[in-house]
Amino acid sequence: MKDRFKIDEWQIIEEGFDPTLNKFAESVFSLGNGRMGHRANFEETYSGNTLQGNYVAGVYYTDKTRVGWWKNGYPEYAAKVLNAANWIGIDIKIGAATLDLHYCKVTAFRRVLNMQEGYLERSFIAALKDGRQVSVNARRFYSIVDDVAGAIRYRITPLNFEDNLVITPFIDGDVSNQDANYGEKFWEEVSRESDNDRAFITLRTRKTNFEVCTGMQVNIVQPGEAGNTASRFIEKEKFIGRETTLWAKKGEEITIYKYGVNISSANTPKEELTAVAKASINKVAAKGFEQMLEEQARAWAQKWKESDIVIEGDVTAQQAIRFNIFQLYQTYTGEDPQLNIGPKGFTGEKYGGATHWDTEAYCVPFYLATASPKVTRNLLLYRYHQLGKAIENAAKLGFDNGAALFPMVTMNGEECHNEWEITFEEIHRNGAVAFAIYNYVRYTGDQDYLAAYGLEVLIGIARFWSQRVNWSEQRNQYVMLGVTGPNEYENNVNNNWYTNTLAVWCLEYTLETIGWLKQQRPEVYVALAEKLRFHEVPETTKWKHIVEQMYYPEEATLGVFLQQDGYMDKEQVLVKALPEKDRPLNQQWSWDRILRSCYIKQADVLQGIYLFEEKYAEDVIRRNFDFYEPRTVHESSLSPCIHAILAAKLGEEQRAYGFYLRTSRLDLDDYNNDTDDGLHITSMAGTWMSVVEGFGGMRVRNGDLHFTPFLPVKWESFSFNILFREAVLNIKTSKNGVVLSNRSDKEVCIHVYGNAYHLKAGSVQKVATDVSFAH
Ligand code: BGC
Repeated sequence: MKDRFKIDEWQIIEEGFDPTLNKFAESVFSLGNGRMGHRANFEETYSGNTLQGNYVAGVYYTDKTRVGWWKNGYPEYAAKVLNAANWIGIDIKIGAATLDLHYCKVTAFRRVLNMQEGYLERSFIAALKDGRQVSVNARRFYSIVDDVAGAIRYRITPLNFEDNLVITPFIDGDVSNQDANYGEKFWEEVSRESDNDRAFITLRTRKTNFEVCTGMQVNIVQPGEAGNTASRFIEKEKFIGRETTLWAKKGEEITIYKYGVNISSANTPKEELTAVAKASINKVAAKGFEQMLEEQARAWAQKWKESDIVIEGDVTAQQAIRFNIFQLYQTYTGEDPQLNIGPKGFTGEKYGGATHWDTEAYCVPFYLATASPKVTRNLLLYRYHQLGKAIENAAKLGFDNGAALFPMVTMNGEECHNEWEITFEEIHRNGAVAFAIYNYVRYTGDQDYLAAYGLEVLIGIARFWSQRVNWSEQRNQYVMLGVTGPNEYENNVNNNWYTNTLAVWCLEYTLETIGWLKQQRPEVYVALAEKLRFHEVPETTKWKHIVEQMYYPEEATLGVFLQQDGYMDKEQVLVKALPEKDRPLNQQWSWDRILRSCYIKQADVLQGIYLFEEKYAEDVIRRNFDFYEPRTVHESSLSPCIHAILAAKLGEEQRAYGFYLRTSRLDLDDYNNDTDDGLHITSMAGTWMSVVEGFGGMRVRNGDLHFTPFLPVKWESFSFNILFREAVLNIKTSKNGVVLSNRSDKEVCIHVYGNAYHLKAGSVQKVATDVSFAH
């Protein structure tokens, strides 16, 4: 665990330059705006340890699968998010020497991520080998107002010399992926153009043929000088730089403004890319850096108004939750149904930037409560549009009659992960897709979605489950063989309790929805049944039989659900008995040893209890929690948050708080020693869940919001904003009680500790404290 950053409510602050931690810091200080983003690489040349990363949402490469022995059904490719053209670069030469912090003595280094206003700032003094010193202050951001653009203001001052400064802002498309199966480069150049102070390069991805035009405009301001005079373009393959030579005087600040745009063929016709890039860059350059930044701050203020969580009395926790919310909104804004949320967002290449079940299981609750319903609807539509591919995917594996298996990992609906135990077996993701539909309808009340899109997806999923189970003559029950549950430290297990439970729930929910649609909109139902060639009676008869006759493994003596058949045969040694040197297991143990052990990577049975908690009595939840948590190593970032929520539900204040800190500062403190690769974006939504669903106890029941807040002992108070059915609510919990504020013009009913409160538009109501505070 690292303790690298200063604690501040709104900022992440790094003081002093430590090259050994540079990749870690590059991840933490990443910027994005939902359409594109990059790691916090330096503008000037840096030849030390760095992972360069610029990413454009929705642009990927289909890298041919690499396995030792091909087996039928394997996905043809592993999708890779592409490191795209680097537009932030500004090469600086001082006389003949390149400004490169790797070769300089660096002092007064300070890097700040300003989350309130949405920008990154870096300042330092660099001494070259010959003793010449410059001070630099660089500020940059990705605009959430003009979401194809970013801007940089780079100020450089010679401190103890006069000399030529050669300043070359550039676009460099000659980039490679760290994560490439065959070490290939993925981009080729299509065209380039430059004029006075602008340059544009269009690059095309091999195989997938996406085109992205990256453009820049440069403006250099030197006190007393008229403008950009002695400039020339330097051109190489996939590279354009605009070189300006200036006589720099001691103590005189030179400011470089650089605007960048990325226009992608995912949203713009290919023949218009350069024209749109030109128009976009003209627009932002005409506004100028300062105005863009003001607009950025205003736009972020609005986002914070809707989604902020305020924690008083614990700045460490405050900083952490804001960091999580900030990174989520930098990654996904919900404007475009073609886009989704990669586990690393725009901060690294791991997981290929592709969509995982993380979106439905973790991100949906966050976006439901902090953004317009349109945002989650777009996430749902993304899967709806991929239903055809999910049916093809299932057909490849031998299923028929419209059975749909959504991929574990995807860019365009096709499965694109390369491990068979995940692609073929980790089928619980199908349940997450169904649960997200339920969650969305439950939260928003948008039943039209269910009728127009949701049920179609549910029927495909139900058809899959009904074929994936098989009847066991021996048990006289349905079983589900050869699966991987959320705990990826077990593969090819029989009867994973979570998967069996989720499958049955999907069947029940689909049956219920069919009943509802038939009654409410019979003509819509008839048309859908015809479209899907749905033979209701035989199909639903089998579904009902599965619902009634499913087998669920249990350990009767202990009174717990069993993760899978045979789990108790494993040697039962608790995590606390593991030597420190063996952790994390995935870095220290062979895979074989992990698979044979009882250790659990992430919530599995507990994931199911989290989803369906209302079905289980508190003592059942407690027994399962007390049994499974001590066997869990939390080596997936998705694990601590579920445990935080359940611990909070059980009134285990200290454990809940411990899990909260672990999930919320996972990247800031680098708990799993892997933040170098990028941030754990999807688990950040879990952090939000642990405050709102954990400490706030928020649940939706029968179309109403319910809360059972309690205050972690370290906190003076915490409050969060929630958007619920057009109402904007703030729930503040402090030692003095709970205050409910309805900040909208819509009346709303809220339940706190089981009592209903009708909040008039604009009203504030104090609610008496409850015994729950005693936890
Ligand atoms: C987890 C998966 C998750 C993936 C991406 C893995 O480590 O086990 O559940 O989908 O990371 O976040």
